[in-house]
Amino acid sequence: MKIALRPWKKSDLDRLIKLADNPNIAANLMDRFPHPYTREAGENFLNMAISGQPESVLAITANEELVGGIGVHPQSDVYRKNAELGYWLAEEYWGKGIITEAIRLIVSYAFDNFDINRIYARPFGGNIASQRVLEKNGFHLEAKLKGTFYKNEQYLDELIYGIRS
Ligand SMILES: CC(C)(COP(=O)(O)OP(=O)(O)OC[C@H]1O[C@@H](n2cnc3c(N)ncnc32)[C@H](O)[C@@H]1OP(=O)(O)O)[C@@H](O)C(=O)NCCC(=O)NCCS
Repeated sequence: MKIALRPWKKSDLDRLIKLADNPNIAANLMDRFPHPYTREAGENFLNMAISGQPESVLAITANEELVGGIGVHPQSDVYRKNAELGYWLAEEYWGKGIITEAIRLIVSYAFDNFDINRIYARPFGGNIASQRVLEKNGFHLEAKLKGTFYKNEQYLDELIYGIRS
């Protein structure tokens, strides 16, 4: 299977809504990735993703087919040498190593294209798959904060994983 990253396109909207409308994906992400995943949410997301320059929010493809999303978000002010990483994959594609490869690609892209020296991700404490894919890409656990996230009526631990250039 050939895994690649490419810019989002307006024509991705229908497939994006179909893949992203899944409570098992939303349960592991910020509330700004909603469930149900409405057409309006999809349009707002695509407008945001397409406006970035250089592109930092990208579509993941497997054999040219859209299967998920990944983004690095450069920070500002005293955090300006850092970028936050986020990602999701359509559930039917979980467990095939796709995100492991997508993270490898975006880390190299981000260090080449942004003036940053650290990329970090903040998985929820119970999200073992996400912790594994970060570790497999050389990210280190930097901190564990107790109960800082409040998601779906529950307090969750925040794990901070980082990688340096
Ligand atoms: C997290 C997510 C991106 C992982 O995608 P994926 O394609 O299944 O990841 P991979 O197949 O590359 O790797 C998953 C790894 O976690 C392991 N894993 C998964 N669930 C596990 C569990 N409950 N316990 C231990 N290991 C687990 C797998 O065995 C695999 O490791 P391996 O290759 O060493 O065997 C996907 O589950 C997803 O989209 N989840 C919802 C959104 C999300 O959590 N985003 C990240 C927010 S920080």
